[in-house]
Amino acid sequence: MNILVVGGAGYVGSHAVRRLIGAGHCVWIYDNLSRGHRGAVPEGRLIEGEVADGPRLIEVMKEHRIDAVMHFAAYALVNESVVDPAMYYRNNVIATLELLDAMRQAKVERFVFSSTTATYGEPGLSPIPETTPQQPINPYGFTKLVIERALADYAAAYGFAYAALRYFNAAGADPAGDIGEDHDPESHLIPIVLQVALGQREQVTIFGEDYPTADGTCVRDYIHVCDLADAHLLALERLQPGRGLCLNLGTGRGTSVREIIESCRRVTGHPIPASIGPRRAGDPPELVADSRRAKEELGWVPQFTEVDEIVSTAWRWHRDHPRGYPN
Ligand code: UFG
Repeated sequence: MNILVVGGAGYVGSHAVRRLIGAGHCVWIYDNLSRGHRGAVPEGRLIEGEVADGPRLIEVMKEHRIDAVMHFAAYALVNESVVDPAMYYRNNVIATLELLDAMRQAKVERFVFSSTTATYGEPGLSPIPETTPQQPINPYGFTKLVIERALADYAAAYGFAYAALRYFNAAGADPAGDIGEDHDPESHLIPIVLQVALGQREQVTIFGEDYPTADGTCVRDYIHVCDLADAHLLALERLQPGRGLCLNLGTGRGTSVREIIESCRRVTGHPIPASIGPRRAGDPPELVADSRRAKEELGWVPQFTEVDEIVSTAWRWHRDHPRGYPN
């Protein structure tokens, strides 16, 4: 297929691009490089453009005879969405609706969408199946839920075929070591802990140790970014007109903040000083996926099951690229 990967120069997108190319698809990357990196995508495949630019998207889809679109171009920081919700609604909702309209005009009806565990809010059950009511507690989660709802309506009315993939905590890097996570500023746990190991930060602050979890710190389901990439490829192959697939992508295993720090100590051999700080607003105590539906629907089985394996791939990337991508 000819696939347009919108936001393909970002963290998850760039890993999906590699997987799609590996499977023999013809991939074009559409990205404005506001958060993505030129160095994350193969030479000659990048089209620079804005998601909100409908006419340009129509032109690109027609010129390259696009069969399917994967959409990774979104802002994805909970805190930032609380501080500047307008930016989130504009980029994650309005621009995405422009993209969907452009697809209709260009007669492209296959769509794989990056959704999130943040659409569930604080579900209070673990693991979380897809049938859990979606009640987001921040603007980021709402913006993703709005698009999930739009997609269900577009599938019913226009025959769209789509998958909404609800990621838990994307982590790790391609074991080849040449693409990985590079956010500025960085707010995610594993890269921050590894930056301590590299001497770029003095210590990591644990945001709260009074949660109702085994060791008092928050529990998350860390899923390797290459496993996410595999799920995108499998979802693309299973798309059916008029039908939507909403799937959790996680390992089903919870890991606490303390356990992540311990894993980083083992993998890097660095002591990694840590201190306890207050809770971060909006952090649910525990988010662990029930991913049985993805296994049943896609035959998807995560390959990276041990946290140390995930952290090792992230460490390789950060150690070899201490300043991230050159551009
Ligand atoms: N944490 C710390 N110290 C840090 C950074 C993070 O203790 O310096 C903790 C957080 O409080 C949280 C855990 O580490 O408990 C993981 O935090 P991340 O920021 O790495 O990831 P989140 O779980 O907050 O975010 C992820 C995705 C978001 C998504 C969110 C849904 O990155 O896109 O899950 O809850 F919205």
